[in-house]
Amino acid sequence: MRIAFFDSGLGGISVLHEAMKQLPQEDFLYFADTLHVPYGTKPKDEVLGFVKKAVETISKEEVSALVIACNTATSIAISELRGMYEMPIIGMEPAVKPALAMNRSSGKRVLVFATPLTLKQSKYRDLVSRIDDMGMVDSLPMPELVEFCEQLNVNSRQVIDYFHSMLEPFDLSLYGTVVLGCTHYPFFRSALREVLPAHIQIVDGSAGTVNRLTQLLSDRDLLSGKGRSDLKWLCSNNDPVYLAKMAKALELFGVVGV
Ligand code: SIN
Repeated sequence: MRIAFFDSGLGGISVLHEAMKQLPQEDFLYFADTLHVPYGTKPKDEVLGFVKKAVETISKEEVSALVIACNTATSIAISELRGMYEMPIIGMEPAVKPALAMNRSSGKRVLVFATPLTLKQSKYRDLVSRIDDMGMVDSLPMPELVEFCEQLNVNSRQVIDYFHSMLEPFDLSLYGTVVLGCTHYPFFRSALREVLPAHIQIVDGSAGTVNRLTQLLSDRDLLSGKGRSDLKWLCSNNDPVYLAKMAKALELFGVVGV
C-alpha cells in the first residue's frame, strides 16, 4: 500500500518531501494533474471536476491514505471527497494559526500568500475569521508563482523582481510572518529570503499536514514500517518529460532516502 499525494502539478512535492523525511519506511505515490494545472486561477466548479477525476484515478491504485497536497483543491473539494471514499483523506490548511501564535508577543501582522481561488473560498475566510480576532491577517494572491514553479524557475532575477513588485505596496516592517498558503510556494523560500527583511519568518503547512497524516495512519495501524521506501510518479497526461521534471523538483528540496 502506498501513501498517495495529489496536486495540480509540482507543488505537492514540497509536502511529499516532508513525508519522505518523517516516514522513511513507507511507499509513496505522487499524482500531478498535468492536463489541468494551474487550478488556482480557474472557476471553482471546473476545478472540482478535475479534482474528482484525478482522485478517481488515484483510488484505482493500492493506496493507504491520500494527501490532497494542494491548498486550492483542499479548499474546494475535501469535504465532498471524504464523503465519497473510505480511505483517509488529509488536506492542507494555510498555517495562519501558528503564524499568529509566533507574532503574539511582537504584535506584528501576518501576510498570507495563496492562489486567488483559495483566498475566495469560505474555508479560508472561515478559518481567518475564527482565529484572527484582532484583525492581524492580510492576504495576497500570487498566481504567477505557480507558473514559475512549473517551469522550475524558482530563484531567477524574474522571480525576485516579481516578489519586489508584489510586495511594494506593503510596509513590511509591520509584518512578522509570511504564510505560504499554496504548496507550490515553498519552492521560493530562498528567493523570498532575499526579498523579505530578516525579521520576517516564513511558514508553510507541510509539517502540520504530515504530522496529521502520521497520526491518522498510526491510529488505523496503516503504517507499514517495512524498512525501505519506494516512490511512484504519475501524471494525468503521461508525459515522460514531466515525470522526469517531478524527480528533479524533489531533488531541489535535498536528497531523501529513495
Ligand atoms: C494551482 O494549481 O494553482 C496551485 C494549487 C495550490 O493551491 O497548491
